[in-house]
Amino acid sequence: MTTDLMHPPPGARADWTIPQDWARYSPCEHRVWDELFARQSTMLRGRASTSFLEGLDTLRLSRSGIPDFEELSERLRKLTGWQVVAVPGLVPDAVFFEHLANRRFVAGRFIRKPEQLDYLEEPDVFHDVFGHVPLLSNPAFADYMQAYGLGGLRALDFHALKNLARLYWYTVEFGLIREHGAIRLYGAGIVSSFSESVFALDDPSPNRLQFDLERVMRTRYRIDDYQQSYFVIDGFEDLLHQTAEADFAPLYRRLEGLSDISPDAIIPSDRVLNRGTQAHVSLRARAGTTRNGSEKT
Ligand code: PHE
Ligand code: FE
Repeated sequence: MTTDLMHPPPGARADWTIPQDWARYSPCEHRVWDELFARQSTMLRGRASTSFLEGLDTLRLSRSGIPDFEELSERLRKLTGWQVVAVPGLVPDAVFFEHLANRRFVAGRFIRKPEQLDYLEEPDVFHDVFGHVPLLSNPAFADYMQAYGLGGLRALDFHALKNLARLYWYTVEFGLIREHGAIRLYGAGIVSSFSESVFALDDPSPNRLQFDLERVMRTRYRIDDYQQSYFVIDGFEDLLHQTAEADFAPLYRRLEGLSDISPDAIIPSDRVLNRGTQAHVSLRARAGTTRNGSEKT
């Protein structure tokens, strides 16, 4: 790691936050947001969780241009007490958890270049704000995120971050939800991606499995391609009850004796909603390419 993760970079405050400097965005940068916004909000109608779509509306994220974090935080604070603060990039785990535990969502302030509309390695303001912030207007999800922050600080003491991070990945980033009998999207990594918002819901390749806390915490995940398994929750209230009200200490102890599960596996205890063909991965493997089309190294 090249960055010093002990100290905030020059210009950042002790809690690693920086001013968003909203006035410094160029017209071109605002246009990138508008283009991404128009494309995703159209695509997600009927596909994303109604809470997510309502959040887009009530937070008025549809207003043109990159949102001003101060204005956005004011609206969010009235709804669920959350705020959005800017950070320079990756922050140490403890700093990240501390912000969540205090109902502050940390977001990157930079936006991708016009030629990177479909794929970038690092989360930008579109992923962080369009992807994550709408659901923070849902009271149960808002409580879940705060509880996750507290749980993260606790997981550091238990040396169980690997397990807890998988929960974040398969819910906050790549989660699916059942609403009125239909499966919909809510994970930020999906809803901020044009292609994965189709793949996660419609493609025959991935498994779609009923969410199970212990199972998810044992499951490795892919950071270089679409997920091979998605987990479906029954609602945000239900997710909150299963996690915030549980004591993870005995669970962490149990997990120490259990093996990891590979990203594509189905195990006997799974409630399988769709058994995936995994055709996407085999195709990619044969072509020798990764998702952004570059050669595998
Ligand atoms: N209840 C968990 C614990 O005891 C904390 C937690 C809450 C973790 C919500 C994730 C999500 O550590
Ligand atoms: Fe994210």
